[in-house]
Amino acid sequence: MKALIINGPNLNLLGQREPDIYGGESFDKVMETLQGHFPTISIDFFQSNIEGELIDRLQEADGKYDGIILNAGAYTHTSVALGDTIRAISTAVIEVHLSNVFAREAFRHNSYIAPYCIGSISGFGPESYRLALEALKNKSENRFFPRK
Ligand code: DQA
Repeated sequence: MKALIINGPNLNLLGQREPDIYGGESFDKVMETLQGHFPTISIDFFQSNIEGELIDRLQEADGKYDGIILNAGAYTHTSVALGDTIRAISTAVIEVHLSNVFAREAFRHNSYIAPYCIGSISGFGPESYRLALEALKNKSENRFFPRK
């Protein structure tokens, strides 16, 4: 099984950035722990602060992975283009957030990507990524019925 984890803007600052909200662990540490949880899954990681690079990576990844886990950061709440990309590709995408976006400012309650993702996980810190990988594993074993 192959999964791609894509992180958007400012997620490279994990550990330094608002640790009360996003936790004190670095991006590398979180991703390393994640790989440790799933030794049988080949996981690729990508991070960019640039909207177009996230779009390019999603397009390139289409058809090459069993699923994509996407934390689009603030672009979640602004990017019609990212939503269009997820809609255009056939590989399943799961939306992930470290924080519970629904418990925060109103502008974080809207997601332009959620309608095109097979599901969304928000609010469990680094565990959100682990839960998303678990869901992808279940999907690949036909243990639930996603839209695509
Ligand atoms: C985030 C939530 C977004 O609202 C915010 O802009 C981020 C991180 C999260 O993981 O909780 O950059 O996606």
